Amino acid sequence: DLLLNEVRPPRPVADGLQQIDRAGRRAAELTKQLLQFARREPQQEAVVDLVAVVSAGLRLMKPALKKSTQIVWNAPDVQLLVPMDGLHLDQILLNLLLNADLAMATGGTIELRIWEAGAGQSAAEGVICEGRSVVLTVTDQGCGMSEETLSRVFDPFFSTRGPAAGTGLGLSLVYGLMRQCGGQIHLSSVVDRGTTVTLVFPSAAESWLEVERVSSGGACMS
Ligand SMILES: Nc1ncnc2c1ncn2[C@@H]1O[C@H](COP(=O)(O)OP(=O)(O)OP(=O)(O)O)[C@@H](O)[C@H]1O
Ligand SMILES: [Mg+2]
Repeated sequence: DLLLNEVRPPRPVADGLQQIDRAGRRAAELTKQLLQFARREPQQEAVVDLVAVVSAGLRLMKPALKKSTQIVWNAPDVQLLVPMDGLHLDQILLNLLLNADLAMATGGTIELRIWEAGAGQSAAEGVICEGRSVVLTVTDQGCGMSEETLSRVFDPFFSTRGPAAGTGLGLSLVYGLMRQCGGQIHLSSVVDRGTTVTLVFPSAAESWLEVERVSSGGACMS
C-alpha cells in the first residue's frame, strides 16, 4: 500500500505490487480460517437475531460480489434468535455468498430466505428440524455440482478452483460452525441449474426468554 500510494511506480511495477498486496490479504484470510478451523474454538455464549445480522452482512458484502450478481432477500420482519456469535455468522454468510457468486460466471440471482420451522418439519429433502428452528437458505443460479463434488464439499482443502484460487476451507468451516451451534447444513445442486444451501439453526427464542426472566427476577422466584 505504502509503495503504491507514495512512490507511484510505473505500470508494470504497480501491477506486480497489486498482486503482492492481493496475495498477502488472501494469505492473511487463509491463516485466520485455518486457525479457527484447527482450534475449533468453543462456541461463545452468544445469541443473535439472524434476520438483522444477515441483512446487515448483505449490505456490507454486496460490493465484494460481481456487478452482474443480484440479491433477492426474503425474510420476515421479526427477530429470529439463533445461538451463534455474530462474527461467525458473518463468516458463514461471506463464504456462501462468494461460492454462489463464483458459481455464476455471467451473473444471476442469489436468493436468501429466512423462515421459522417447528419440530418435525422438513427444511429440505431429508432434513427434519429436531426442535423449533430458524432456517436460512441461499440459492444460486450457478454451474451446480456433480454428485462427486457434492459428496466431498465438506472435506477440508477440497476445492475445484485450483490452488491459486480456492483453499477448500470455506464449506468445512461453515459445517464446523453449524455443528457447534447444534444446527444442520444441507446442500442440493443440479449441474448447470444451481445450488441451494440450507442451514438449520436451533431457535434460541426460549433460552433468551429464560435469561430475561432470570435477570428480571420474575417467574423463577415463585
Ligand atoms: N454454490 C456453489 N456452486 C457450485 N459449486 C460450489 C458451490 N459452493 C461450493 N462449490 C464447490 O465446492 C468446492 C468447495 O467449496 P469451499 O467453499 O469449501 O472451498 P472453495 O470455495 O473452493 O475455497 P475457499 O472457500 O476456501 O476459498 C468448491 O471448490 C466448488 O467446487
Ligand atoms: Mg468457498
